[in-house]
Amino acid sequence: MAKYKVPNGPKSYPCWQKLQWLIRQEGYLQDCFHKYGDVFTLKVGPDFSPYVFICSPQMMQELFAAGPQQVDSGVEATNNPFLLGERSLVSLSGKRHRQQRKLLAPCLHGERVQVYSQLIRELAEEMASGWSIGQPIPIYQSLQSIFLDLGNKILLGSKDRPRSQKLRQLLLEIMNPKRPILRAMSFYLPFLRWGPLNVWANLLKEKQEIDDILYAEIREHRENPDPSQTDILSVMIASRYDTGEPMTDLELRDEVITLMAQSPEVAGTSLARAFYWILYKPQVYEKLLEELDSLGDDPDPQEIIRLPYLDAVYKEFMRIYPTAVLTFPRVVKKTLQLQDYQFEPGTILLPCIHLIHHREDIYPQAKEFKPERFLERDFAPYEYFPFGGGHRRCIGTMLAQLEMKLVLATILSGWELALDSNMPKPSYQGALLPSTNNIRIVMKGKRTRSQIRSKTPDVNLSGVN
Ligand code: HEM
Repeated sequence: MAKYKVPNGPKSYPCWQKLQWLIRQEGYLQDCFHKYGDVFTLKVGPDFSPYVFICSPQMMQELFAAGPQQVDSGVEATNNPFLLGERSLVSLSGKRHRQQRKLLAPCLHGERVQVYSQLIRELAEEMASGWSIGQPIPIYQSLQSIFLDLGNKILLGSKDRPRSQKLRQLLLEIMNPKRPILRAMSFYLPFLRWGPLNVWANLLKEKQEIDDILYAEIREHRENPDPSQTDILSVMIASRYDTGEPMTDLELRDEVITLMAQSPEVAGTSLARAFYWILYKPQVYEKLLEELDSLGDDPDPQEIIRLPYLDAVYKEFMRIYPTAVLTFPRVVKKTLQLQDYQFEPGTILLPCIHLIHHREDIYPQAKEFKPERFLERDFAPYEYFPFGGGHRRCIGTMLAQLEMKLVLATILSGWELALDSNMPKPSYQGALLPSTNNIRIVMKGKRTRSQIRSKTPDVNLSGVN
């Protein structure tokens, strides 16, 4: 009898598997989980190579504990350094990854990121003040803009206003291409790059313009060092590796664009969905407002981020539809045993955040948006991991949490909001959800604490579901 189990998986043609994967990712993963269980193989990699999907918390615990000599990520596993570059933390592996992460981690940690709290609140206020009463607001696009402005200020300090406006516009263009499918396909099918629509040529031009701006910023920061500056580029320039070496211009460029690209896409998507869930569930909305109001008119940002119900709502919207459905792929370096399975070097493993977050044995009524579950019990880092785990865990977790909680709290406590009643019907995306681009909210008016308290005097803080 074989000592180790072999992951099962569909026997259909690889091109059919890949098609399903491309057009209905979550639904396809759910079907495979129900059919094959905790571990299954799909031939959806480049050239239809096999990927092993992992949906077992016990295996995740072991995988996150494995060191980089045994299993790692980086360009070998993700293979797409086009915009971020080969020196980006995302692309590196092994020793170089460890060195780079050690240098960057202090720039993005705890007290270091708290200095941006007031800035985050101000930008959220400024954005919401520009909304017109009664007009549907495409919330994802608005959030993308806030997070880009934040990225500009937090990462670069953005003193040159026309240049930072240009960078913002280029990043918006590159993140929201006019022909997204054609552009995505031209990465895999090179002959499409020379078509009449100039999709590839435009992409190269946008990337070159972004690089020109980033290198100009790096040059100016180097020429005018100012130890009082709190922007992350200044901090990175002043940092040194253990060898005493500074970061090169190429490393700085790749890290700045890597950090800058994350918030508008992932935090913007997560937060747009958060607005949807909160406004869709009036009990959650009221309870959250009551908690925010309890802090008074001009609360300390640190008190806001520690609020227990806000924290539970945050954890639940990051659980129910994690923006990252999967962690980065992991490539096995040395034979690896996880529970009853053994994986040989070269195997690509894909930890499945979405499926673990939807396991009924961990999250009863998993498709329901129920923040209370996070007040009732703690979840282990291998049961709940919207930011991945182990030595590749998201390095921007603290900043992302600060940005999302403060933007949410500032907008909810300052303005009365509702979902746009003409929004397209939600469809099934792992949970019932409108596509992020379709989420629209309507501002009903400015809100004051006393006004809301007199409207909802008897909100019952217990038993909300
Ligand atoms: C809602 C917001 C965000 C989510 C859901 C998210 C999620 C993730 C996930 C799942 C990973 C892969 C972890 C793994 O494979 O185990 C990751 C990696 C990473 N994230 Fe985030 N992220 C967010 C925001 C940010 C922000 C704001 C930044 C930077 C300022 C950032 C920078 C990075 C970097 C550099 C990595 C690569 C880490 C490494 O390979 O060592 N992320 N993120």
